[in-house]
Amino acid sequence: MSGVNEIRSTFLDYFKKNGHEVVPSSPLVPRNDPTLMFTAAGMVQFKNVFTGLERRPYTRATSAQKCVRAGGKHNDLDNVGYTARHHTFFEMLGNFSFGDYFKEHAIELAWNLITKEFGIDAKRLLVTVYHTDEEAPVLWKKIAGLSDDKIIRIATSDNFWAMGDTGPCGPCSEIFYDHGDHIWGGPPGSADEDGDRFIEIWNLVFMQFEQVTREERLALPRPSIDTGMGLERVAALLQGKHDNYEIDLFQALIAASVEATGVPAEGDRRASHRVIADHLRSASFLIADGVLPSNEGRGYVLRRIMRRAMRHAQLLGAEQPLMWKLLPALVGQMGRAYPELVRAEALISETLKLEETRFRKTLERGLTLLSDATTDLTEGQQLNGETAFKLYDTYGFPLDLTQDALRARGIGVDTDGFTEAMNRQKAEARASWSGSGDKATETIWYELKDTFGATEFLGYDTETAEGVVQALVRDGATLDQAAAGDVVQVVVNQTPFYGESGGQVGDTGVITTDTARLLVSDTQKRGEGVFVHICTVDHGIIKVGEPVVLTVDHARRSSLRANHSATHLLHEALREVLGTHVAQKGSLVAPERLRFDVSHPKPMTAEELKIVEDMANEIIVQNTPVTTRLMSVDDAIAEGAMALFGEKYGDEVRVVAMGQAVQGEKTGKAYSIELCGGTHVTATGDIGLVRILSESAVGAGVRRVEAVTGEAARSYLSEQDERVKSLATLLKVQPADVLTRVQALTDERRKLERELNEAKKKLALGGGSNVSGGEGDSVRDVGGIRFLGKVVTGVEPKDLKGLADDGKTSIGSGVVAFVGVSADGKASAVVAVTDDLTGRFSAVDLVRVASVALGGKGGGGRADMAQAGGPDGASAQHALDAVADALSK
Ligand code: ALA
Repeated sequence: MSGVNEIRSTFLDYFKKNGHEVVPSSPLVPRNDPTLMFTAAGMVQFKNVFTGLERRPYTRATSAQKCVRAGGKHNDLDNVGYTARHHTFFEMLGNFSFGDYFKEHAIELAWNLITKEFGIDAKRLLVTVYHTDEEAPVLWKKIAGLSDDKIIRIATSDNFWAMGDTGPCGPCSEIFYDHGDHIWGGPPGSADEDGDRFIEIWNLVFMQFEQVTREERLALPRPSIDTGMGLERVAALLQGKHDNYEIDLFQALIAASVEATGVPAEGDRRASHRVIADHLRSASFLIADGVLPSNEGRGYVLRRIMRRAMRHAQLLGAEQPLMWKLLPALVGQMGRAYPELVRAEALISETLKLEETRFRKTLERGLTLLSDATTDLTEGQQLNGETAFKLYDTYGFPLDLTQDALRARGIGVDTDGFTEAMNRQKAEARASWSGSGDKATETIWYELKDTFGATEFLGYDTETAEGVVQALVRDGATLDQAAAGDVVQVVVNQTPFYGESGGQVGDTGVITTDTARLLVSDTQKRGEGVFVHICTVDHGIIKVGEPVVLTVDHARRSSLRANHSATHLLHEALREVLGTHVAQKGSLVAPERLRFDVSHPKPMTAEELKIVEDMANEIIVQNTPVTTRLMSVDDAIAEGAMALFGEKYGDEVRVVAMGQAVQGEKTGKAYSIELCGGTHVTATGDIGLVRILSESAVGAGVRRVEAVTGEAARSYLSEQDERVKSLATLLKVQPADVLTRVQALTDERRKLERELNEAKKKLALGGGSNVSGGEGDSVRDVGGIRFLGKVVTGVEPKDLKGLADDGKTSIGSGVVAFVGVSADGKASAVVAVTDDLTGRFSAVDLVRVASVALGGKGGGGRADMAQAGGPDGASAQHALDAVADALSK
């Protein structure tokens, strides 16, 4: 009989033929429902379509949906590996009608598929119906020809399906397969129904209601259909097996773990292989959908799954990390149907390896402690909660791992004692932070962290998500609600908003409910992991406990992504151009620009900056995907990741890599690798362009580079271009010739300036002939000394000396004095004495006389030439007279 992959496509093709849209599986982390931890049924992605909130271009759909049931409402973790049909991960095949067909056609479609397409023996099938549903039995009789004894009425919630505490729901009808009396068990509803003889294969839900709150149930706008068939179960049936783990897909995974460990899947080792096979699927798919192991929320459920499998790997005697080695087998089985698995293969592989490597360090010792603590215990007894907590706290054993480890010996765990020990530790931690100085004002955030745990950040994968309001805070106190006009800090269980950190500013956007709208002006992180949305209520009332839709300002976030990624590229380019002494000293990633401070002892040259900018742009043009991986700090650094000195990193770090190096030792490897928690572009091309605006000093040995990217860079360059064009028009040349033209104009100007100065000098000397003739107005005889004294305007002070030299030459023997008056009324004076007279007069003394008259404070120079200045240009003539006077004394 067909393998899992063929069964899946037979199902989807059948419904496609019957007018259904084939819709891809939605991610395991539901974006449209904050009340669900994981997607646990095919209808989850259609929730809002059933209730009429969302419209799609089709009214019939079919899907193969990835589901995880571990943690939260649906939790199968404890039993997995020990039973024939429990999984943490499974695929649900389903068909859906959104107000299109209802019961009759749903039953018809289902019956035809299983009896005709799948060829299941109709005689072995029986169905259940909800006890108040009078239509379904009639239809089953009519369509399937089932006799009354094959239609079982059930009065319990087993036949009333609900998504969760709230959401679409309705009575259902389940199809069962009878494996025959060689297997123990009774039909549904009987005392022996838990046996394995009668197995449910398909659930048809007649969606008619929406559970709005626990008390309130509304009719859906139009009756609809939701069905769910466990692919693994139906595959077992079609492959003539009674146990899901015997289907082709699981056999391939188990074969891989048998081969890797050399331990056959038999006896008490069989469960370990099954646990590993199952958990490999859930862990890999969760990682592919953006969940990474952590100590909170979804990440912790993933960690529990992984560690449970890893303990079983250890039980099988694996001496090296095992899980990652089995990944190719999984990708081989499921990669075609779920391409995300192929895309994330490297990330999954490294995450599995890292977690197993880390956990192995404490696993051994933890197991020894566990074995010591339980030597005296016998079946039916319990391990004390204190030890279970120590295993959790010190050795990283999730509670269910400890329970699983004791399961074979029939020993339980005192879970109340475990919780007590955990609470005691929390109380101690609280006492230590609430008493200490500054932190007291932040107490509220630690309390919220304590009550609700850290906020789950969804913003690496999505910019919009639903969340539930956990707290509203104003002035350090919690509120029950906030109304229009209020400024309030909002804490939700999960958010796509990035909280300011690592230089990247917090996101802004909106938070909405059906009736209220809040504008988020900033997002901050407080109390170790609590995301605080700083909001103003625009309209309506927001209350604690309400579900909300959080939407990040997309354009702003896109600029932030581009600027953050560009910062990484500039960082690496700066290191390549300036040297590896370049270390990041701070950065600001804002939407409109980026600022980056680096250690470097001297200003960068224009050429260096140009090379840096060109290098970064080269990587941008490569347009290769930016990858994010989770690694241990040591491994990341070994890979060449740039860690920032003085930063505190957790045990595991996000490693962001981008670009491909095209030169040097790194050729072919990632161009930039950094430890970073920020949000980045998907591919380097998304940055568009980077343009450095300035380079300046910010302190000793620290330089600041400012840059813009994308649209900001483009409009900056376009402004520059406009400027060049205007210049060209002004200069009446082509833009390309502007430089030559300006150069020519500058040269010409210099030449003209020179000529002008010459002319001015000549003018200053009184038209030349007067001076040279020695009889001009400016030359007089003072006590037998020829004195050339003149007030000049329009001559630069620096040119006065030259003028005085010319004066000396022209009078042959005597004293020359010029007082220049500048446009602002200040005066500068120069006095020159020809060499034959320096024995009698000192230019220095004479210039001082002039200076005094000009309101100045003396001057200086040599006996033959001295200069001085003064504020009082109006006294210029008076200064010359004073010099003349001095000569006559
Ligand atoms: N939503 C239904 C189920 O999960 C079909 O069983």
